[in-house]
Amino acid sequence: MFYVNEHVKSLNRIFDQNERKGYLKLDLNENPVGFSQEFINEVLSKATPEFIAQYPETQEFQRKLAAFLGVEPEQLCLTNGSAEAIRHIIEAFSRPGGKVLGVKPSYAMYEIFSLMYGREFIPCPYDGIKVNVDHLLEMIDKDIDLLVVLNPNNPFGDVYSEEEMQRIIDKAQTNEVTVLIDEAYHYFYKKTFLHFALEYRNVFVTRTFTKMFGLGSGRLGFAVGQKEGIAMVQKLCTPHNVNAFGMLFAEAIMDKEGMLDEMIKKQADGKQYVVSELKNRGYQVIAGEGNFIFIKPKTDAAEVMKRMKNEQKILIKTYPDIAGLGTCLRVSTGERSAMEQFLDSLDLVDR
Ligand SMILES: Cc1ncc(COP(=O)(O)O)c(C=O)c1O
Repeated sequence: MFYVNEHVKSLNRIFDQNERKGYLKLDLNENPVGFSQEFINEVLSKATPEFIAQYPETQEFQRKLAAFLGVEPEQLCLTNGSAEAIRHIIEAFSRPGGKVLGVKPSYAMYEIFSLMYGREFIPCPYDGIKVNVDHLLEMIDKDIDLLVVLNPNNPFGDVYSEEEMQRIIDKAQTNEVTVLIDEAYHYFYKKTFLHFALEYRNVFVTRTFTKMFGLGSGRLGFAVGQKEGIAMVQKLCTPHNVNAFGMLFAEAIMDKEGMLDEMIKKQADGKQYVVSELKNRGYQVIAGEGNFIFIKPKTDAAEVMKRMKNEQKILIKTYPDIAGLGTCLRVSTGERSAMEQFLDSLDLVDR
């Protein structure tokens, strides 16, 4: 009989991310507006025929990124989006049949990658819209191989204090549990736990260029950790796994004086604007850290989502049972122009 891996066969995947052309995309926490055409042209002018024809060269970029982050190049593994880093950390640091602990609801791929490799995903439920750190600490024991935490958390945008993360890492170290700290939404929120990844064995931080850097198409992310652990993650990567165009744009942003700060400010201003406008309109809004908010609609959430898509060409999501508010709209934030378009459409649809 032809063999099919049972873990793959039973895996439930949703590939709903295509056919989004022509919509204002506020459903996947991307940057909805993107760079100016002028900046794009300037960066692409560096793409020679040779650059396009050859495999991507990572060494120089890796050195530059390491300096930007204040780490050694060997403490860094470049990946095809941070999803690839997360996948390989789960693959390398949990055993077949082993347990991966993480908060739920959260980024779905922690559980999917765990199941893909035949691990058991153990969910730690939220306490309303906050992680219950004491509960999470109780769940860390010798049976767990790997713990995944995010800062800020997706979907609620709550965060860990330094003291809370220290307690988590201490308990994990005592029980020989690897810790993955997902900082995909770093730069929307300043605090980082990168220092823990450098200080402790088997603590990793993953980050992405998809979110604040606005490079969703570039598929570029990375993991940071001690050299020995990072070498394991690197071994699992396919050859030439990162995108040359992603690196070209990421490098241009890092090189351009003040550009990242400007992007951070633009995103923060847009979020502040939409939240205050929604509140002026009488909406209940949950806005933690990160580029996403929950809105309690005045009418039916599913109907609002459908009409926003069909009539207004705006993609958003719904989320059930949010903090006693019932089903809410889940909307990615972005710069002011996108938020104005969203509000104008919401005014028409939700009344
Ligand atoms: C918490 C979190 N981590 C990781 C990712 C993966 O992002 P990427 O693979 O684009 O870096 C996402 C994407 O939405 C996310 O929300």
